[in-house]
Amino acid sequence: MRQIAIFASGSGSNFQALVDAVQAGTLKANIKLLVCDQPGAFVIHRAQSAGIPTFVFRAKDYENKEAFEGEIKHQLEAAGVDFIVLAGYMRLIGHTLLESYGGRIVNIHPSLLPSFPGKDAIGQALEAGVKITGVTVHYVDAGMDTGEIIAQDIVRVTTGETRESLQDKIQHVEHHLYPTTLNHLFLTTGY
Ligand code: GRF
Repeated sequence: MRQIAIFASGSGSNFQALVDAVQAGTLKANIKLLVCDQPGAFVIHRAQSAGIPTFVFRAKDYENKEAFEGEIKHQLEAAGVDFIVLAGYMRLIGHTLLESYGGRIVNIHPSLLPSFPGKDAIGQALEAGVKITGVTVHYVDAGMDTGEIIAQDIVRVTTGETRESLQDKIQHVEHHLYPTTLNHLFLTTGY
């Protein structure tokens, strides 16, 4: 059974979908830790409700990324974590974590990569006028949403679509794609 940590910065609807899938038995993993860089984030309440330990930090309390990632690494090792799942974690992963967990870190992004990487992928898709966008689950490397693609699903952009309506459709797809993809990955690879 994989021992995972989930990193998140915000509302944590994907965190919740993963918790629900573990509880339902459709994602065979143990969620050992939530790592959160925003002390006020709603995802912290979700973790507390689910009885999942949290490590919450402020980047500005540390000298640099190496320092806070060193502390995260210590927390991951103490919790016995062997796989990292990013779910709305709004920071690039640095070399400290990549050296220890490289190839065992995944992310979910709200577009069909390599289109619309980085911030506000949903706004970028609306601005570009595409008729199909979607969701990508990918491995994490040192770049911004550049790692190898694991799975994708499409979302159609319909007439009169707003940012809110498109975000709702994308999140609905994310909440299914992420647990399903992770479960498949854990079953079919040595992770
Ligand atoms: C998701 O849309 C995910 O694709 C992106 O950040 C968002 C996080 O949303 N990386 P939530 O906090 O899981 O609700």
